[in-house]
Amino acid sequence: MEFYPEYELKPQLFSEFPLDWSEIFGNQKPIHVEIGFGNGEFASYYCNKNPQINYVGLELSITSMIKAQKKLKSKNIKNAKLILVDGKFGLREFFDNETIEKVIMNFPIPWYKNSHANRRIVLKEFFEVLSVVLKKDGYFELLSDQEWYIIESRNNAETTGFFKVFPVEKNPLREFITRYERKWINFGRNIYRLTIQKKSSGNIERLIGGVKEMPHAKGKITIEKINYINEMVFKDYEKTFVVKGVYKKLEKDEYIIKVISSDRDFVQHYFLILYNKGNEWTLKLDSESNPYRTPAVKWSVKKLMEVLS
Ligand SMILES: C[S@@+](CC[C@H](N)C(=O)[O-])C[C@H]1O[C@@H](n2cnc3c(N)ncnc32)[C@H](O)[C@@H]1O
Repeated sequence: MEFYPEYELKPQLFSEFPLDWSEIFGNQKPIHVEIGFGNGEFASYYCNKNPQINYVGLELSITSMIKAQKKLKSKNIKNAKLILVDGKFGLREFFDNETIEKVIMNFPIPWYKNSHANRRIVLKEFFEVLSVVLKKDGYFELLSDQEWYIIESRNNAETTGFFKVFPVEKNPLREFITRYERKWINFGRNIYRLTIQKKSSGNIERLIGGVKEMPHAKGKITIEKINYINEMVFKDYEKTFVVKGVYKKLEKDEYIIKVISSDRDFVQHYFLILYNKGNEWTLKLDSESNPYRTPAVKWSVKKLMEVLS
């Protein structure tokens, strides 16, 4: 399998958030973001046609990430970066206020069932984030084969009061047809497009920001307590974490603790390392795992140390 590391960006390795995109791309071109780039067909077309912009793609699927890298490489694209991340998290955490010229979302999964409604990307909070990260007069464009989804998104955008909302277009003329678009057209479905333009900014709270620190805690502990922390669940308002395994290194006083944490709906898996030096124990992120230093991650280190003390 071929990888093209020049396209994939791993923000976990960066020390400051939001990211400095002019430094990453080495120029000041306007930033366009696509959420859910799928196989990357649209990305390679768009980047090729618009060399005057910098493209950032956010996608959850590893398979899509690999396919999209190949597509970009086949056209020798120079103005694209791809990130494996939940688009909702990425848009909020990686982009500073008023830095994006356009956000595009082609055929997101609509999550039909009411019980899955909270998985939809275009909820009210998403539009609040958009209102902050888009430049004044910047655009958001959403395509879907589901009219109800477009209407729901339009209503959510309208409610915030931060956007000029254009009338929904039915079967708009499109310069490029994406893979899913082709599929829905072949099924005989209509295509709907929602376009909104940012007019003013809301307020958002980011989870990560400033300079990255390596959360760690030191102190005296009662090591026998380690036997009881497995499967323990900790909750504090929007932060939750659970211990999903405790492993002892055979040769020394050292433990690896597997943790799953969530901040609101953003879930991360990582390992902590607990070791003894002299008379003091240290608990910190294992160097092999690289979660974003969200409040839940920092809290898991602090709280577990408290529990073991
Ligand atoms: C129906 S496909 C559309 C793919 C492509 N845009 C197209 O039009 O052919 C939806 C894509 O969104 C991705 N996706 C779903 N939820 C996401 C999220 N929260 N953040 C980023 N990508 C997401 C999926 O992995 C999938 O590749």
